Amino acid sequence: MAIRLLDTLLKLQLLIIAGTLLFRGVSYSLECYACDSAEDPECATRPGQQLEVEECSGATDLCVTSITAGLTRRGCLGRLYPNGYCAAPCDSCNTSLCNRHVFPTDRLRCYQCSGSTCIDVANRPELLLPCPVYNEDDRCYTNILHLSNTMRGCEHTNLPDTCPHVCLKCNYNGCNSELTVTESRCLQCTHMRLSPNPDCLREQALINDDETVQCALTNETVTQCVNKVMLGHREQCYTHLNTQTEVLQRGCSTTMGFFPTGELTQCYGDYCNAQCQDIACGTCNSTSNPNCRTGINLSTEKCAAGTVACYACEQVVFLFHSISNLCLNMYIPPDTFLRRGCADADFIPATDQGETCQLCRSSDNCNRYSVRSCYRCNSQEQDDDDCAEMNLPSAMTISNCTDPMELCVSTVISRLNLIYTVRGCASQVPECSANDPYCVKCNGSLCNNIPTQWAMEKIEQSNIHLLDSPKQQKQRWAALTLLKYLWPDP
Ligand SMILES: *[C@@H]1O[C@H](CO)[C@@H](O)[C@H](O)[C@H]1NC(C)=O
Ligand SMILES: *[C@@H]1O[C@H](CO)[C@@H](O)[C@H](O)[C@H]1NC(C)=O
Ligand SMILES: *[C@@H]1O[C@H](CO)[C@@H](O)[C@H](O)[C@H]1NC(C)=O
Ligand SMILES: *[C@@H]1O[C@H](CO)[C@@H](O)[C@H](O)[C@H]1NC(C)=O
Ligand SMILES: *[C@@H]1O[C@H](CO)[C@@H](O)[C@H](O)[C@H]1NC(C)=O
Ligand SMILES: *[C@@H]1O[C@H](CO)[C@@H](O)[C@H](O)[C@H]1NC(C)=O
Repeated sequence: MAIRLLDTLLKLQLLIIAGTLLFRGVSYSLECYACDSAEDPECATRPGQQLEVEECSGATDLCVTSITAGLTRRGCLGRLYPNGYCAAPCDSCNTSLCNRHVFPTDRLRCYQCSGSTCIDVANRPELLLPCPVYNEDDRCYTNILHLSNTMRGCEHTNLPDTCPHVCLKCNYNGCNSELTVTESRCLQCTHMRLSPNPDCLREQALINDDETVQCALTNETVTQCVNKVMLGHREQCYTHLNTQTEVLQRGCSTTMGFFPTGELTQCYGDYCNAQCQDIACGTCNSTSNPNCRTGINLSTEKCAAGTVACYACEQVVFLFHSISNLCLNMYIPPDTFLRRGCADADFIPATDQGETCQLCRSSDNCNRYSVRSCYRCNSQEQDDDDCAEMNLPSAMTISNCTDPMELCVSTVISRLNLIYTVRGCASQVPECSANDPYCVKCNGSLCNNIPTQWAMEKIEQSNIHLLDSPKQQKQRWAALTLLKYLWPDP
């Protein structure tokens, strides 16, 4: 018997030639695939690929595929079983190269692989193969070795010693396909007093793309970490507050440090450690508490859960004097009302009543600082041509003063042939000194919005016929007074 190794193409050609010879009625000899899975597992799993072919000696021979003790053998019946008896399971057929199929047809198919590429076999159909060793009651197994190594195969072919300790077994084709290492994500950040990270404490987040805002951290502003988890294990996200040092940490439990004290909360699920840290705010108002303005020794209040920020709001309160008061050109400093507290769901800034608010969320009691802000402009600068008239204060630049008690100022500066208005926090406008006759100071946020009087005069001259009320006449009188100052009578 001659065994020849032929490549597939040659085999095909042979088939065609054999077919042609048969058609012409010329005798031919039967050819069969010949192999033993003990030497080449592909004999069992991928027949018809690169297997050897043998020519049978007898004209009445058959090609067979048989299973003995789990091993698969293919070849001519006459060679494999000289007595002509092939015990079941055995398949025989009588045309050339007909023994090329997986046998038995219900031979179990399992994912067979090992290493890191074996962790996720969802899109790896090439790893799903018939089991090399046949057993009627075979099962597929998955052996999770560690985070970067998984082994899959057939129970009767190569079950590792470590099974069944960390092995999953199942009994239908392709059943050992479970993802063995999964990833879960957590927010990861640290906030500490010397290196503040307000986004790690609390944040206003849009929920589900609709308009609802709630206090929660998001992975858009906070970095994240990944817990790698072996099948059958679960890892958590954590939030830890060291109540002594006030260091707040969030992260993945797989990389969590040891926290003997403090407040530790843990949770399951992607980004589950996104809860806002509670905030406490200084709470007071300038009417009932003289310390409210300085921010010293404020009483603090724990805000309602989900509060994002603390507020400090200031409102200019004008003292209304009777119109008969002839001292209208005398500056009456407006008083201010200041309040501080939790910017919770009940907080509404009275913007329509001229209240200006500043919000902060960087730490407990962060609203104890300055709330003083003033209009900042210079009518000589190109973008500030409304600085004198203040027709549109809402469009004006606002400057935060360095001190909560700082005054807001406005003055008219006359230099060479230029006359222009400058406004700002007192420290920003050094021209506005005690001997500056045009310096106007006021005690409150954004109170430096009174139009420069020479501008008023210009308006009044063009609208002189409209000026009939006593109040407007008095305003005009006041304006002319200032004008005299600016342009003394020759
Ligand atoms: C081959 O087997 C089929 C049935 O499996 C039979 O009908 C046929 O006669 C056989 N041919 C030869 C040449 O023995
Ligand atoms: C943030 O989380 C959402 C799900 O909550 C996810 O779809 C998105 O890809 C994450 N963004 C980043 C940058 O990881
Ligand atoms: C100021 O605070 C006191 C005491 O907390 C309160 O009774 C009062 O209503 C507050 N005033 C205003 C205008 O909110
Ligand atoms: C701080 O306030 C408390 C009461 O709220 C008061 O007893 C204490 O004297 C105050 N301290 C200072 C320095 O004002
Ligand atoms: C002034 O302070 C507020 C609140 O702290 C801040 O939002 C704003 O950006 C500051 N403005 C400037 C010009 O620094
Ligand atoms: C500004 O107003 C506050 C409270 O209304 C007062 O305590 C302070 O002395 C005033 N500052 C000036 C410079 O008038």
